[in-house]
Amino acid sequence: GNLMKIAIDGPAGAGKSTVAKRVADLLSYVYIDTGAMYRSITLKALRNGVDVTQEDELQSLLQMTKIDLEKKSDCQIVLLDDEDVTEEIRSSIVTRNVSEVAKHVNVRKEMVKRQQEVSREHSVVMDGRDIGTHVIPDAQIKIFLIASVDERAKRRHEENLNKGMASDLEQIKKDIELRDLLDSEREASPLKKADDAIELDTTTMSIEEVVESILTIVREYE
Ligand code: C5P
Repeated sequence: GNLMKIAIDGPAGAGKSTVAKRVADLLSYVYIDTGAMYRSITLKALRNGVDVTQEDELQSLLQMTKIDLEKKSDCQIVLLDDEDVTEEIRSSIVTRNVSEVAKHVNVRKEMVKRQQEVSREHSVVMDGRDIGTHVIPDAQIKIFLIASVDERAKRRHEENLNKGMASDLEQIKKDIELRDLLDSEREASPLKKADDAIELDTTTMSIEEVVESILTIVREYE
């Protein structure tokens, strides 16, 4: 039958991955966390001493790299050359370097190719920065999730504290602002709301409310 494509884009920490994963589970679609793919190649570059400003080196590294997003019971796991890096790709060193890696056109081309391959075979919910604009511009549903930077920083801060991690709210806020700036101002497929995307401001919404709003939009489409 007809495959469905749902694109969820937006700035850092707007709740894209949590929401996208739940929507995918409820609809039995495949969830693709494209940020995890950029984070994985960033981790591999850092481990191998590959300079993240060197496009050619990153590109050849990526050619030799397997990145798999798998569903394990209720969790989403990320495998980098068969190693589980689900936790490690969220580390601050990866977070601080990922936008530099993701700005290279030839890195993006390869990632987009891999992402599009999945969407040709499965109904998908994909989240990222350029999903509605470049990866699946033909998506039936495009959502652009935003929230105030204070709220996004607060959510991340509370998440860290709940995990028992040290956390500095002001630092988180600065990191989020910088990453949004780099992602929005890069030349290659920057973070941008697609003209036909529906913008949802989640600042005062719960996860459940955001999920429900998206499901309503999907049902209206059907
Ligand atoms: O979504 P997440 O915060 O994990 O994404 C990490 C980084 O990967 C982003 O800040 C951005 O630089 C890059 N990214 C991208 N395009 C995507 C998804 C992520 O450039 N589709």
